[in-house]
Amino acid sequence: MDFKLTEEHIMIRDAARDFAKTELLPGVIERDEKQEFPKELVKKMGDLGFLGMMASPEYGGGGMDTISYVLAMEEISKIDASASVMISVNNSLVCWGLDTFGTEEQKKKYLSKLTTGEKLGAFCLSEPEAGSDATSQRTTAIDKGDHYILNGTKNWITNGNSADFYLVIAQTHKEKKHKGINAFIVEKDWEGFEIGPKEQKLGIRGSDTHSLNFNDVKVPKENRIGEDGFGFKFAMKTLSGGRIGIAAQALGIASGAYELAKTYSKQRKAFGTEISNHQAIAFKLADMHTQIEAARHLVMKAAWDKDQGQNYDLSGAMAKLHASQTAMDVSIEAVQVHGGNGYVKEYHVERLMRDAKITQIYEGTSEIQKIVISRSILKD
Ligand code: CAA
Repeated sequence: MDFKLTEEHIMIRDAARDFAKTELLPGVIERDEKQEFPKELVKKMGDLGFLGMMASPEYGGGGMDTISYVLAMEEISKIDASASVMISVNNSLVCWGLDTFGTEEQKKKYLSKLTTGEKLGAFCLSEPEAGSDATSQRTTAIDKGDHYILNGTKNWITNGNSADFYLVIAQTHKEKKHKGINAFIVEKDWEGFEIGPKEQKLGIRGSDTHSLNFNDVKVPKENRIGEDGFGFKFAMKTLSGGRIGIAAQALGIASGAYELAKTYSKQRKAFGTEISNHQAIAFKLADMHTQIEAARHLVMKAAWDKDQGQNYDLSGAMAKLHASQTAMDVSIEAVQVHGGNGYVKEYHVERLMRDAKITQIYEGTSEIQKIVISRSILKD
Protein backbone atom coordinates (compact mmCIF):
# COMPACT_ATOMS: atom_id res chain seq x y z
CA MET A 1 0.00 0.00 0.00
CA ASP A 2 1.54 3.31 -1.10
CA PHE A 3 0.44 6.37 0.88
CA LYS A 4 2.90 8.73 -0.86
CA LEU A 5 1.60 11.56 -3.00
CA THR A 6 3.02 11.93 -6.52
CA GLU A 7 5.06 15.01 -7.47
CA GLU A 8 2.06 16.29 -9.42
CA HIS A 9 -0.22 15.92 -6.41
CA ILE A 10 2.26 17.84 -4.24
CA MET A 11 2.48 20.58 -6.88
CA ILE A 12 -1.31 20.96 -7.02
CA ARG A 13 -1.63 20.93 -3.21
CA ASP A 14 1.10 23.57 -2.89
CA ALA A 15 -0.46 25.76 -5.60
CA ALA A 16 -3.81 25.64 -3.76
CA ARG A 17 -2.11 26.39 -0.42
CA ASP A 18 -0.30 29.33 -1.96
CA PHE A 19 -3.48 30.70 -3.57
CA ALA A 20 -5.40 30.36 -0.30
CA LYS A 21 -2.72 32.17 1.71
CA THR A 22 -1.99 34.97 -0.71
CA GLU A 23 -5.38 35.61 -2.32
CA LEU A 24 -8.07 34.29 0.02
CA LEU A 25 -6.72 34.96 3.51
CA PRO A 26 -6.39 38.79 3.28
CA GLY A 27 -10.13 39.55 2.93
CA VAL A 28 -11.68 36.45 4.47
CA ILE A 29 -13.00 38.10 7.67
CA GLU A 30 -14.50 40.99 5.72
CA ARG A 31 -16.17 38.69 3.19
CA ASP A 32 -17.68 36.69 6.05
CA GLU A 33 -18.96 39.89 7.70
CA LYS A 34 -20.35 41.45 4.53
CA GLN A 35 -21.64 38.16 3.09
CA GLU A 36 -20.05 38.74 -0.29
CA PHE A 37 -17.52 37.22 -2.63
CA PRO A 38 -15.99 39.50 -5.28
CA LYS A 39 -16.34 38.41 -8.91
CA GLU A 40 -12.61 39.06 -9.45
CA LEU A 41 -11.77 36.34 -6.95
CA VAL A 42 -14.06 33.88 -8.73
CA LYS A 43 -12.27 34.80 -11.96
CA LYS A 44 -8.88 34.16 -10.35
CA MET A 45 -10.07 30.74 -9.18
CA GLY A 46 -11.14 30.03 -12.76
CA ASP A 47 -7.88 31.31 -14.27
CA LEU A 48 -5.89 29.06 -11.94
CA GLY A 49 -8.00 26.05 -12.95
CA PHE A 50 -9.75 25.44 -9.60
CA LEU A 51 -13.25 25.54 -11.07
CA GLY A 52 -12.93 22.66 -13.54
CA MET A 53 -10.19 20.52 -12.05
CA MET A 54 -11.50 17.06 -12.97
CA ALA A 55 -13.36 17.94 -16.18
CA SER A 56 -12.18 16.75 -19.59
CA PRO A 57 -9.44 18.90 -21.16
CA GLU A 58 -11.31 19.07 -24.50
CA TYR A 59 -13.94 21.17 -22.69
CA GLY A 60 -11.40 23.32 -20.87
CA GLY A 61 -11.08 21.15 -17.77
CA GLY A 62 -7.90 20.19 -15.96
CA GLY A 63 -8.33 16.43 -16.51
CA MET A 64 -7.03 15.84 -12.98
CA ASP A 65 -7.84 12.95 -10.68
CA THR A 66 -10.02 13.11 -7.58
CA ILE A 67 -6.99 12.92 -5.27
CA SER A 68 -5.72 16.21 -6.75
CA TYR A 69 -9.16 17.73 -6.29
CA VAL A 70 -9.48 16.77 -2.60
CA LEU A 71 -5.96 18.02 -1.90
CA ALA A 72 -6.88 21.42 -3.36
CA MET A 73 -10.22 21.43 -1.53
CA GLU A 74 -8.50 20.77 1.81
CA GLU A 75 -5.99 23.60 1.36
CA ILE A 76 -8.59 26.14 0.27
CA SER A 77 -11.01 25.12 3.03
CA LYS A 78 -8.34 25.65 5.70
CA ILE A 79 -8.62 29.35 4.92
CA ASP A 80 -11.98 30.00 3.25
CA ALA A 81 -14.81 27.45 3.18
CA SER A 82 -16.99 29.93 1.27
CA ALA A 83 -14.55 29.79 -1.64
CA SER A 84 -14.30 26.02 -1.41
CA VAL A 85 -18.05 25.42 -1.53
CA MET A 86 -18.22 27.41 -4.78
CA ILE A 87 -15.38 25.27 -6.11
CA SER A 88 -17.02 22.09 -4.86
CA VAL A 89 -20.46 22.70 -6.36
CA ASN A 90 -19.00 23.82 -9.69
CA ASN A 91 -16.54 20.90 -9.93
CA SER A 92 -18.22 17.87 -8.44
CA LEU A 93 -21.87 18.55 -9.09
CA VAL A 94 -22.18 20.77 -12.14
CA CYS A 95 -19.06 20.05 -14.25
CA TRP A 96 -18.90 16.36 -13.33
CA GLY A 97 -22.62 15.88 -14.02
CA LEU A 98 -22.38 17.50 -17.46
CA ASP A 99 -19.08 15.89 -18.37
CA THR A 100 -20.35 12.42 -17.46
CA PHE A 101 -23.96 12.56 -18.68
CA GLY A 102 -24.26 15.59 -20.98
CA THR A 103 -24.55 15.53 -24.78
CA GLU A 104 -21.76 16.80 -27.01
CA GLU A 105 -23.78 20.00 -27.64
CA GLN A 106 -24.41 20.54 -23.90
CA LYS A 107 -20.72 20.10 -23.15
CA LYS A 108 -19.68 22.55 -25.89
CA LYS A 109 -22.28 25.13 -24.96
CA TYR A 110 -22.19 24.93 -21.15
CA LEU A 111 -19.38 22.80 -19.75
CA SER A 112 -16.62 24.59 -21.68
CA LYS A 113 -17.63 27.88 -20.01
CA LEU A 114 -18.04 26.39 -16.53
CA THR A 115 -14.60 24.76 -16.43
CA THR A 116 -12.79 28.03 -17.06
CA GLY A 117 -14.76 30.20 -14.64
CA GLU A 118 -16.25 32.28 -17.45
CA LYS A 119 -19.59 31.06 -16.04
CA LEU A 120 -20.50 29.55 -12.68
CA GLY A 121 -22.90 26.70 -11.99
CA ALA A 122 -25.48 25.77 -9.34
CA PHE A 123 -27.16 22.47 -8.51
CA CYS A 124 -30.86 22.72 -7.70
CA LEU A 125 -32.38 19.69 -6.01
CA SER A 126 -33.62 20.83 -2.57
CA GLU A 127 -37.11 22.26 -2.17
CA PRO A 128 -39.11 23.63 0.75
CA GLU A 129 -40.68 20.16 1.14
CA ALA A 130 -37.93 18.02 -0.36
CA GLY A 131 -34.59 18.34 1.43
CA SER A 132 -33.44 14.94 2.67
CA ASP A 133 -36.46 13.28 1.03
CA ALA A 134 -35.24 14.09 -2.45
CA THR A 135 -37.71 11.86 -4.32
CA SER A 136 -40.60 14.17 -3.26
CA GLN A 137 -39.92 16.79 -5.94
CA ARG A 138 -42.77 19.30 -6.31
CA THR A 139 -41.15 21.34 -9.09
CA THR A 140 -42.76 20.22 -12.32
CA ALA A 141 -41.47 20.03 -15.87
CA ILE A 142 -44.37 19.44 -18.24
CA ASP A 143 -43.50 17.96 -21.63
CA LYS A 144 -44.77 20.22 -24.45
CA GLY A 145 -43.20 18.46 -27.39
CA ASP A 146 -40.04 20.36 -28.27
CA HIS A 147 -39.75 21.99 -24.83
CA TYR A 148 -40.71 21.65 -21.17
CA ILE A 149 -42.52 24.16 -18.95
CA LEU A 150 -40.88 24.42 -15.55
CA ASN A 151 -42.74 25.57 -12.42
CA GLY A 152 -41.75 25.46 -8.76
CA THR A 153 -39.38 26.62 -6.05
CA LYS A 154 -35.87 25.48 -5.07
CA ASN A 155 -34.33 26.22 -1.68
CA TRP A 156 -30.87 26.71 -0.15
CA ILE A 157 -29.14 26.90 -3.51
CA THR A 158 -25.40 27.51 -3.28
CA ASN A 159 -24.21 30.09 -5.89
CA GLY A 160 -27.93 30.96 -6.15
CA ASN A 161 -27.33 34.42 -7.58
CA SER A 162 -23.70 34.24 -8.64
CA ALA A 163 -24.35 31.29 -10.96
CA ASP A 164 -25.13 31.62 -14.67
CA PHE A 165 -26.17 28.02 -15.44
CA TYR A 166 -28.39 25.91 -13.17
CA LEU A 167 -28.91 22.15 -13.13
CA VAL A 168 -32.54 21.85 -12.07
CA ILE A 169 -34.24 18.62 -10.97
CA ALA A 170 -38.01 18.42 -11.59
CA GLN A 171 -40.90 15.98 -11.77
CA THR A 172 -42.28 15.20 -15.26
CA HIS A 173 -44.34 12.04 -14.72
CA LYS A 174 -45.75 12.19 -11.19
CA GLU A 175 -47.26 8.69 -11.40
CA LYS A 176 -43.80 7.21 -11.98
CA LYS A 177 -42.48 8.79 -8.73
CA HIS A 178 -38.67 9.06 -8.78
CA LYS A 179 -38.50 7.33 -12.16
CA GLY A 180 -40.44 10.26 -13.65
CA ILE A 181 -37.92 12.91 -12.55
CA ASN A 182 -35.72 14.81 -15.02
CA ALA A 183 -32.68 17.09 -14.83
CA PHE A 184 -32.37 20.23 -16.97
CA ILE A 185 -29.86 22.95 -17.74
CA VAL A 186 -31.47 26.35 -17.17
CA GLU A 187 -29.91 29.71 -17.99
CA LYS A 188 -30.19 32.61 -15.56
CA ASP A 189 -31.75 35.17 -17.89
CA TRP A 190 -34.61 32.99 -19.14
CA GLU A 191 -38.06 34.45 -18.78
CA GLY A 192 -39.92 33.37 -15.65
CA PHE A 193 -36.77 32.52 -13.69
CA GLU A 194 -36.52 34.60 -10.48
CA ILE A 195 -33.79 34.66 -7.86
CA GLY A 196 -35.23 34.91 -4.35
CA PRO A 197 -33.70 36.78 -1.40
CA LYS A 198 -30.27 35.87 -0.07
CA GLU A 199 -30.22 33.63 3.04
CA GLN A 200 -28.62 35.11 6.19
CA LYS A 201 -26.43 32.24 7.33
CA LEU A 202 -24.44 31.09 10.36
CA GLY A 203 -21.42 30.04 8.29
CA ILE A 204 -19.97 29.96 4.76
CA ARG A 205 -21.30 33.49 4.66
CA GLY A 206 -19.10 34.59 1.75
CA SER A 207 -20.93 32.20 -0.57
CA ASP A 208 -24.42 33.21 -1.66
CA THR A 209 -27.39 30.95 -0.94
CA HIS A 210 -30.83 31.73 -2.39
CA SER A 211 -34.21 30.26 -3.09
CA LEU A 212 -35.17 30.20 -6.77
CA ASN A 213 -38.58 30.47 -8.40
CA PHE A 214 -39.55 29.06 -11.77
CA ASN A 215 -42.73 30.47 -13.25
CA ASP A 216 -43.58 28.89 -16.62
CA VAL A 217 -39.93 28.78 -17.66
CA LYS A 218 -39.57 27.37 -21.17
CA VAL A 219 -36.73 24.84 -21.32
CA PRO A 220 -35.76 23.44 -24.74
CA LYS A 221 -35.82 19.64 -24.92
CA GLU A 222 -32.14 19.53 -25.83
CA ASN A 223 -31.41 20.89 -22.33
CA ARG A 224 -32.66 17.73 -20.62
CA ILE A 225 -29.78 15.64 -19.26
CA GLY A 226 -29.97 11.96 -20.20
CA GLU A 227 -33.02 9.89 -21.10
CA ASP A 228 -36.53 10.81 -19.97
CA GLY A 229 -36.78 9.85 -16.28
CA PHE A 230 -33.01 9.81 -15.60
CA GLY A 231 -33.10 12.88 -13.31
CA PHE A 232 -33.19 11.19 -9.91
CA LYS A 233 -30.38 8.77 -10.74
CA PHE A 234 -28.46 11.72 -12.18
CA ALA A 235 -28.87 13.61 -8.89
CA MET A 236 -27.88 10.62 -6.75
CA LYS A 237 -24.83 9.72 -8.82
CA THR A 238 -23.70 13.33 -8.91
CA LEU A 239 -24.20 13.80 -5.16
CA SER A 240 -22.21 10.65 -4.43
CA GLY A 241 -19.10 12.32 -5.85
CA GLY A 242 -20.08 15.68 -4.39
CA ARG A 243 -19.93 14.14 -0.93
CA ILE A 244 -16.22 13.40 -1.40
CA GLY A 245 -15.67 17.11 -2.12
CA ILE A 246 -17.59 18.17 0.98
CA ALA A 247 -15.70 15.58 3.04
CA ALA A 248 -12.48 17.23 1.81
CA GLN A 249 -13.92 20.62 2.73
CA ALA A 250 -14.66 19.37 6.26
CA LEU A 251 -11.16 17.93 6.49
CA GLY A 252 -9.76 21.33 5.49
CA ILE A 253 -11.82 23.19 8.08
CA ALA A 254 -10.61 20.75 10.76
CA SER A 255 -6.95 20.99 9.65
CA GLY A 256 -7.12 24.77 9.46
CA ALA A 257 -8.54 25.03 12.98
CA TYR A 258 -6.03 22.52 14.33
CA GLU A 259 -3.03 24.32 12.78
CA LEU A 260 -4.17 27.62 14.27
CA ALA A 261 -4.66 26.02 17.70
CA LYS A 262 -1.25 24.34 17.59
CA THR A 263 0.55 27.55 16.63
CA TYR A 264 -1.33 29.55 19.26
CA SER A 265 -0.59 26.98 21.99
CA LYS A 266 3.15 27.34 21.37
CA GLN A 267 3.00 31.13 21.67
CA ARG A 268 0.47 31.82 24.40
CA LYS A 269 1.85 31.63 27.93
CA ALA A 270 -0.12 30.84 31.11
CA PHE A 271 1.10 29.74 34.53
CA GLY A 272 4.70 30.51 33.53
CA THR A 273 4.96 28.45 30.35
CA GLU A 274 3.55 28.04 26.83
CA ILE A 275 0.09 26.47 27.12
CA SER A 276 1.19 23.57 24.85
CA ASN A 277 3.28 22.43 27.84
CA HIS A 278 0.10 21.89 29.84
CA GLN A 279 -1.25 18.40 29.40
CA ALA A 280 -4.82 19.76 29.23
CA ILE A 281 -3.89 21.46 25.93
CA ALA A 282 -1.38 18.88 24.64
CA PHE A 283 -3.96 16.09 24.97
CA LYS A 284 -6.54 18.16 23.09
CA LEU A 285 -4.03 18.60 20.25
CA ALA A 286 -3.28 14.86 20.27
CA ASP A 287 -6.98 14.05 19.93
CA MET A 288 -7.48 16.64 17.20
CA HIS A 289 -4.51 15.37 15.19
CA THR A 290 -5.63 11.74 15.48
CA GLN A 291 -9.21 12.49 14.44
CA ILE A 292 -7.96 14.54 11.45
CA GLU A 293 -5.62 11.78 10.27
CA ALA A 294 -8.49 9.25 10.43
CA ALA A 295 -10.68 11.64 8.41
CA ARG A 296 -7.86 12.16 5.89
CA HIS A 297 -7.55 8.41 5.32
CA LEU A 298 -11.30 8.10 4.69
CA VAL A 299 -11.31 11.07 2.30
CA MET A 300 -8.31 9.78 0.37
CA LYS A 301 -9.78 6.26 0.18
CA ALA A 302 -13.05 7.60 -1.26
CA ALA A 303 -11.15 9.73 -3.81
CA TRP A 304 -8.98 6.74 -4.70
CA ASP A 305 -12.05 4.52 -5.16
CA LYS A 306 -13.47 7.08 -7.60
CA ASP A 307 -10.17 7.32 -9.50
CA GLN A 308 -9.96 3.52 -9.73
CA GLY A 309 -13.44 3.31 -11.24
CA GLN A 310 -14.73 1.51 -8.15
CA ASN A 311 -18.04 2.21 -6.44
CA TYR A 312 -17.63 5.13 -4.03
CA ASP A 313 -21.15 5.51 -2.61
CA LEU A 314 -20.14 3.85 0.67
CA SER A 315 -16.63 5.25 1.02
CA GLY A 316 -17.82 8.77 0.08
CA ALA A 317 -20.64 8.67 2.64
CA MET A 318 -18.29 7.38 5.37
CA ALA A 319 -15.73 10.06 4.51
CA LYS A 320 -18.36 12.79 4.71
CA LEU A 321 -19.89 11.47 7.93
CA HIS A 322 -16.59 11.23 9.75
CA ALA A 323 -14.86 14.31 8.30
CA SER A 324 -17.83 16.57 9.05
CA GLN A 325 -17.98 15.34 12.67
CA THR A 326 -14.23 15.93 12.84
CA ALA A 327 -14.63 19.48 11.52
CA MET A 328 -17.20 20.18 14.21
CA ASP A 329 -15.26 18.56 17.10
CA VAL A 330 -11.88 19.99 16.14
CA SER A 331 -13.08 23.52 15.47
CA ILE A 332 -14.90 23.65 18.83
CA GLU A 333 -11.73 22.47 20.58
CA ALA A 334 -9.64 24.98 18.60
CA VAL A 335 -11.81 27.78 19.99
CA GLN A 336 -11.33 26.33 23.49
CA VAL A 337 -7.53 26.23 23.09
CA HIS A 338 -7.63 29.92 22.11
CA GLY A 339 -9.70 30.80 25.20
CA GLY A 340 -11.23 34.29 24.98
CA ASN A 341 -9.27 35.01 21.80
CA GLY A 342 -11.02 32.10 20.13
CA TYR A 343 -14.29 33.96 20.47
CA VAL A 344 -13.20 36.98 18.45
CA LYS A 345 -13.04 37.23 14.69
CA GLU A 346 -9.39 38.12 14.15
CA TYR A 347 -8.21 34.70 15.33
CA HIS A 348 -10.24 32.93 12.59
CA VAL A 349 -11.24 29.86 14.62
CA GLU A 350 -14.75 31.11 15.46
CA ARG A 351 -15.43 31.39 11.71
CA LEU A 352 -14.11 27.90 11.06
CA MET A 353 -16.38 26.61 13.86
CA ARG A 354 -19.40 28.28 12.24
CA ASP A 355 -18.39 27.02 8.79
CA ALA A 356 -17.95 23.45 10.07
CA LYS A 357 -21.65 23.00 10.85
CA ILE A 358 -22.85 23.13 7.26
CA THR A 359 -20.68 20.13 6.33
CA GLN A 360 -23.03 18.02 8.48
CA ILE A 361 -26.03 19.37 6.60
CA TYR A 362 -25.52 19.98 2.88
CA GLU A 363 -25.13 17.34 0.16
CA GLY A 364 -26.94 15.03 2.57
CA THR A 365 -27.11 15.43 6.35
CA SER A 366 -25.11 13.09 8.61
CA GLU A 367 -28.31 11.10 9.04
CA ILE A 368 -28.57 10.66 5.23
CA GLN A 369 -24.96 9.42 5.16
CA LYS A 370 -25.92 6.85 7.81
CA ILE A 371 -28.84 5.72 5.62
CA VAL A 372 -26.47 5.27 2.67
CA ILE A 373 -23.86 3.47 4.81
CA SER A 374 -26.29 1.18 6.63
CA ARG A 375 -28.12 0.19 3.42
CA SER A 376 -24.80 -0.58 1.79
CA ILE A 377 -23.40 -2.72 4.62
CA LEU A 378 -26.68 -4.55 5.23
CA LYS A 379 -27.51 -5.40 1.63
CA ASP A 380 -25.53 -8.66 1.58
N1 CAA B 1 -26.36 6.03 -7.58
C1 CAA B 1 -27.28 5.58 -8.48
N2 CAA B 1 -28.57 5.36 -8.17
C2 CAA B 1 -28.96 5.60 -6.91
C3 CAA B 1 -28.07 6.06 -5.92
C4 CAA B 1 -26.72 6.27 -6.30
N3 CAA B 1 -25.80 6.70 -5.45
N4 CAA B 1 -28.74 6.21 -4.77
C5 CAA B 1 -30.03 5.85 -5.01
N5 CAA B 1 -30.14 5.49 -6.32
C6 CAA B 1 -31.32 5.00 -7.01
C7 CAA B 1 -31.80 3.68 -6.40
O1 CAA B 1 -31.12 2.58 -6.97
C8 CAA B 1 -33.27 3.69 -6.77
O2 CAA B 1 -33.40 3.33 -8.12
P1 CAA B 1 -34.42 2.14 -8.58
O3 CAA B 1 -35.79 2.57 -8.15
O4 CAA B 1 -34.24 2.06 -10.04
O5 CAA B 1 -33.98 0.91 -7.84
C9 CAA B 1 -33.63 5.16 -6.69
O6 CAA B 1 -32.41 5.90 -6.82
C10 CAA B 1 -34.32 5.54 -5.41
O7 CAA B 1 -33.45 5.19 -4.37
P2 CAA B 1 -33.93 4.91 -2.90
O8 CAA B 1 -35.08 3.95 -2.92
O9 CAA B 1 -32.73 4.54 -2.12
O10 CAA B 1 -34.52 6.34 -2.50
P3 CAA B 1 -34.91 6.92 -1.11
O11 CAA B 1 -36.11 7.76 -1.25
O12 CAA B 1 -34.91 5.86 -0.07
O13 CAA B 1 -33.74 8.01 -0.83
C11 CAA B 1 -31.64 8.89 -0.18
C12 CAA B 1 -32.42 7.75 -0.88
C13 CAA B 1 -30.20 8.38 -0.12
C14 CAA B 1 -32.15 9.17 1.20
C15 CAA B 1 -31.73 10.17 -1.10
O14 CAA B 1 -33.04 10.69 -1.11
C16 CAA B 1 -30.77 11.25 -0.68
O15 CAA B 1 -29.59 11.16 -0.98
N6 CAA B 1 -31.27 12.34 -0.01
C17 CAA B 1 -30.46 13.47 0.33
C18 CAA B 1 -30.49 14.49 -0.76
C19 CAA B 1 -29.31 15.43 -0.69
O16 CAA B 1 -28.17 15.03 -0.53
N7 CAA B 1 -29.59 16.71 -0.87
C20 CAA B 1 -28.55 17.66 -0.94
C21 CAA B 1 -28.96 18.78 -1.82
S1 CAA B 1 -27.75 19.28 -2.96
C22 CAA B 1 -26.71 20.34 -2.15
O17 CAA B 1 -26.66 20.41 -0.95
C23 CAA B 1 -25.82 21.08 -3.06
C24 CAA B 1 -25.36 22.38 -2.55
O18 CAA B 1 -25.89 23.41 -2.91
C25 CAA B 1 -24.15 22.43 -1.67
